[in-house]
Amino acid sequence: MKIAILGAGAMGSLYASYLVSQHEVTLIDSYENKVNAINTLGITKVNHDHTKEHFTCRAVVSGTDIGIQDLLIIFVKSIHTYQAVSENAGLIGENTIVMTLQNGAGNNRDIAHFVAQKNIIVGTSTHNSVSMELDKFYHSGCGPTNVGPDLLTEESLLKTQMIADMLRRCGLEVNVIENVQKVLWQKLMVNCGINALTAVADCRIGDVKENPHLWNICQHIVNECVLVAEADGTHFEADDALAIVKKVCENDASGYSSMYQDHKNKRTTEIDKINGVIAGLGREYGIPTPYNDIIVTQVHALEHKNLSA
Ligand code: PAF
Repeated sequence: MKIAILGAGAMGSLYASYLVSQHEVTLIDSYENKVNAINTLGITKVNHDHTKEHFTCRAVVSGTDIGIQDLLIIFVKSIHTYQAVSENAGLIGENTIVMTLQNGAGNNRDIAHFVAQKNIIVGTSTHNSVSMELDKFYHSGCGPTNVGPDLLTEESLLKTQMIADMLRRCGLEVNVIENVQKVLWQKLMVNCGINALTAVADCRIGDVKENPHLWNICQHIVNECVLVAEADGTHFEADDALAIVKKVCENDASGYSSMYQDHKNKRTTEIDKINGVIAGLGREYGIPTPYNDIIVTQVHALEHKNLSA
């Protein structure tokens, strides 16, 4: 298959590492230095046990010259989805399947401006990956990739199953979920509970559970998410939601969240597409979300500080 991955960060590079031996894979990233490093040095993946694997993969700054793809996987930050897909719309033909495994809410709606909804697969990844150098990343946490059709029809489900089988043949653990909405909420809750706290407290993912003060704030954040999800039509037991967040803290304990990495690299974070979405929906449904509100402001304060430094 011809596969393009939009976003050559830690997650995009991780998925490339699985796919590249069996498919024609191209990483696309607007950061030219990164593209040059990948093309000259290849990519080194540092595994959880600190063993290293090296692989080569073509990288380009823009998808305009590589033609229509069979599959486009989106891994750019959710705040850039619309622009990135718009700038690379030449990759998308009538039969191209576009799959988002990004953090944040609303990526499917941004993608649907450029792709028929029947060709969009939405999902979540439970892998954790940390950028080390331009050509190197650390694979700190492993887990299933959960995917489902954005619009459930017999045809879109078959396409999703076909992509899932292809990913499995490349060594990924994949679940196909017909009603993917609950899984998307689950991932949003994980990101709400962990990401901003690790940026604000300057810590690893495991510390959110180990530090009782952080765990206390995390519980409040997740409880607000559960109330907002309920108002939006998706039910979670609060204990189950917290158990899911706790498990990710254990699984990815030694890793750094994507928001921590954005903060450290002085990039704009995805806060408005994560806790900001909970705060916004809370206002819409009349549900107070003080913990999510304050953490959104704190992360914006960090971004402001980074910009003025
Ligand atoms: O955003 C991330 O870094 C990941 O989604 C997370 C929350 C650590 C789960 O792997």
